[in-house]
Amino acid sequence: MEVLSFLLKWTSILLLSLSWCFAEEGQISNIANPCCYYPCQNQGICVRYGLDKYECDCTRTGYYGENCTTPEFWTQVYRFLKPSPDVIHYILTHFDWLWDIINRTFLRDWLMRKVLTVRANLIPSPPTYNSRYDYLNWEAYSNITYYTRILPPVPQDCPTPMGTKGNTKLPDPKLLVEKFLLRRNFRPDPQGTNLMFAFFAQHFTHQFFKTHNRVGLGFTKGLGHGVDAGHIYGDTLDRQLELRLLKDGKLKYQVLKGEIYPPSVLDAQVKMSYPPTTPEHQQLAIGQEVFGLLPGLSMYATLWLREHNRVCDILKQAHPTWEDEQLFQTSRLIIIVIEDYVQHLSGYRLKLRFDPTLLFTSHFQYQNRIAVEFNQLYHWHPLMPNSFNIDGENIEYPQFIFNTSILTHYGVEKLVEAFSTQPAGQIGGGNNIHPVVSRVAEGVIVESRELRLQPFNEYRKKFNLKPYSSFAELTGEEKMSKELEELYGHIDAMEFYPALMLEKTRPGAIFGQSMVEMGAPFSLKGLMGNPICSPEYWKPSTFGGRIGFEIVNSASLKKLVCLNTKWCPYVSFHRPPADYKQQSSPHSEL
Ligand code: HEM
Ligand SMILES: *[C@@H]1O[C@H](CO)[C@@H](O)[C@H](O)[C@H]1NC(C)=O
Ligand SMILES: *[C@@H]1O[C@H](CO)[C@@H](O)[C@H](O)[C@H]1NC(C)=O
Ligand SMILES: *[C@@H]1O[C@H](CO)[C@@H](O)[C@H](O)[C@H]1NC(C)=O
Ligand SMILES: *[C@@H]1O[C@H](CO)[C@@H](O)[C@H](O)[C@H]1NC(C)=O
Repeated sequence: MEVLSFLLKWTSILLLSLSWCFAEEGQISNIANPCCYYPCQNQGICVRYGLDKYECDCTRTGYYGENCTTPEFWTQVYRFLKPSPDVIHYILTHFDWLWDIINRTFLRDWLMRKVLTVRANLIPSPPTYNSRYDYLNWEAYSNITYYTRILPPVPQDCPTPMGTKGNTKLPDPKLLVEKFLLRRNFRPDPQGTNLMFAFFAQHFTHQFFKTHNRVGLGFTKGLGHGVDAGHIYGDTLDRQLELRLLKDGKLKYQVLKGEIYPPSVLDAQVKMSYPPTTPEHQQLAIGQEVFGLLPGLSMYATLWLREHNRVCDILKQAHPTWEDEQLFQTSRLIIIVIEDYVQHLSGYRLKLRFDPTLLFTSHFQYQNRIAVEFNQLYHWHPLMPNSFNIDGENIEYPQFIFNTSILTHYGVEKLVEAFSTQPAGQIGGGNNIHPVVSRVAEGVIVESRELRLQPFNEYRKKFNLKPYSSFAELTGEEKMSKELEELYGHIDAMEFYPALMLEKTRPGAIFGQSMVEMGAPFSLKGLMGNPICSPEYWKPSTFGGRIGFEIVNSASLKKLVCLNTKWCPYVSFHRPPADYKQQSSPHSEL
């Protein structure tokens, strides 16, 4: 009897404590991480305490209070005076007389400096998080095989995939692409962007966007994290040495029909991504392993190879004592700056000046780390047309992709002329991605979920933009916004990449406000954060003396092409004006 009651007593105690344990367990998983609410405003940092508490770190945000929402006095003054991005955009694109005056005074440099620093300062530097670490630590800083991140991942234990808002399940990526992104009719960019720009953008960015096995942690093979010309010289020393002639600083090349082209993989044995059906003698060996994909990419590879070897000749003439190594290394620096310069021209339609000395008087970190968000943002596949018009012929995708003979068949001149003439697609506004690349868009969305990218509105805030209050405000129309509302449930659950693609475009523009306001900071930080732009490097001796510095300071897209071709085609990042008559200009104009 006694034994029985003893057993009973202990069993009930055991059961009681067990149920208590489970209750506790249940409670833990029921309490959402309070940081899932993204409570901290104005760049404040959310730190979880205990189970259901949090603290916002408002240090140096200019705000204080529980959620960093109360502005300090000077913040209030500053906020009152600061015009909105759209007002700034309006001023920048109107009032020609005003700009004429500013352009002639010291105000121009002051303004340029302001634009550069305000934009670049939006990018955390030194870099902060990555896709594994949502808090600062040494591994996240020092392990450069990760892309960095501007915002930490969505916490793991949130009620909904995007935090606390929106449906418990995100819409099917395939459905999103088919409904909102896939092209119905080709919509040309109203700003007149052409394929010459599209391929430049792709060529340029693939030196630092080199995602390494898409495993969900956001690794990159581009360890230079910026403009290092790794797409020309290879991203490892072994690859570089294989691509080099090891004579006079030059790169290996081959001559076909009297023209210089990259060597085949038989002569420069580097790994390239070609289909197995491409014979080896037709596989071009290029710094970036995927550049056999498109004739537009191998065309730029050819131009840069010719330019590198041309610069080597000039340097060797000025410095007969220099050996191969110094000629190569110095030419590479010159090539990097020309890339920077030309990219700068292309990114901003304002007549901005690429002048590193502008920043010498301000505090500026000469370092850069490529971010996952920058990679996502730059998937500009709507630029691609339905087919390609070259020299009076119409070429469909199956004949274009991985077709190495297009480059040598037409030659650089005719390709430049064709790509400079043919319109590229408008990037923003939705429904403008060619089916050939629709899978890529799907992949971007899938990846962003694996990487737990925060909602678009959180990025709006991070870049000092007002979060959108509805889907209608985001897209500026009725139909898509209704469907999006249904699929996502809440505007605060809208995802980063689809939002960039679907945001209403500015009138007559290639994309909307967010692409510019988020893209420009990454871009400018990347260009100006290059060590070559630092006071220590930016001087003639770095570039082989006055001759090299002169090349650097007078670079242009037209020179890149026409100093390396037999005749000078129409070359621009814009389609020619309607009344343009083709005439090849003499080289003396350069
Ligand atoms: C017909 C032309 C194009 C084709 C066939 C194409 C195809 C692809 C493919 C297959 C990927 C890899 C996707 C993955 O790994 O999941 C990719 C990535 C990418 N593409 Fe394109 N693309 C084209 C044009 C462009 C253009 C014009 C841009 C403009 C900048 C661009 C920007 C990117 C970026 C940023 C990535 C990510 C690269 C990385 O993270 O490694 N692409 N593209
Ligand atoms: C701070 O944010 C939390 C979560 O969004 C909210 O519940 C709370 O009321 C806010 N506190 C203040 C003082 O606004
Ligand atoms: C600004 O002035 C320079 C000469 O100082 C001129 O070359 C340039 O075209 C002007 N730019 C604008 C936008 O007026
Ligand atoms: C970077 O992190 C990854 C994943 O933890 C690891 O495999 C790799 O060895 C690290 N690289 C370096 C250079 O520490
Ligand atoms: C590659 O391009 C050339 C030149 O336009 C063309 O004659 C050939 O048919 C194309 N090859 C393939 C496999 O489509």
